[in-house]
Amino acid sequence: MLSRLHHPPRVILIASSLPGEGKTTMAVNLAVALAQQSPTCLVDCDRRNSVLSSIFEPVSELGLGDVLAGTLPLSEAVFDTDVPGLCVIPCGRAAEGAYDLANREAMKETLAGLRERFQFIIVDSPPILPYADGRVLSTIVDGVVFVGRPHLTTREAMRRSLEVLAQVNSAPILEVVLNAAESDVADYQYYRYGYKS
Ligand SMILES: Nc1ncnc2c1ncn2[C@@H]1O[C@H](COP(=O)(O)OP(=O)(O)OP(=O)(O)O)[C@@H](O)[C@H]1O
Ligand SMILES: [Mg+2]
Repeated sequence: MLSRLHHPPRVILIASSLPGEGKTTMAVNLAVALAQQSPTCLVDCDRRNSVLSSIFEPVSELGLGDVLAGTLPLSEAVFDTDVPGLCVIPCGRAAEGAYDLANREAMKETLAGLRERFQFIIVDSPPILPYADGRVLSTIVDGVVFVGRPHLTTREAMRRSLEVLAQVNSAPILEVVLNAAESDVADYQYYRYGYKS
């Protein structure tokens, strides 16, 4: 954010190659941090593993999927949380394909509506390699934060994901986060992780 003071990205997709690398953890923590600065909305776009509405009260069955289906106004899908400045949109009752290309325009409109109310919109998504949703979302956000995790993310998976994002002409990758790195392990010191053969 600080390095892009004049044009800070406002809609940020948290993506990764595979399940369990830490996207949701990253999305929640980033959203909580940003909410201390400006109104922030955390959007659950992972219909496969929607957990945000169990992390934040109130739990609701309604959410983004219903907005995209046209059965719920956006304003009724946005829920306050205990964290000042932070709202969430739960995944909702998403039909199969709710975030596919056919719904890209509906999602774009939804994000435009959220921009009017929030300074930052953090989008949690399913993994890039097995599911198309994140790839589609990557084309309608301002930037992507890409998460990798030691012992889980292979070099090949990371390379393939970055290729896939380039193919769909994704928004810029703002940061690559090495989640859950053990800072006292020698391999991760001096930023050498990426160069180890
Ligand atoms: N830095 C961390 N330290 C310890 N545990 C972590 C860390 N990051 C994530 N975890 C744990 O790892 C598990 C997977 O993390 P998370 O749910 O954030 O991954 P994800 O990429 O969203 O997975 P999925 O693609 O299945 O939704 C969770 O139990 C989470 O609490
Ligand atoms: Mg997740």
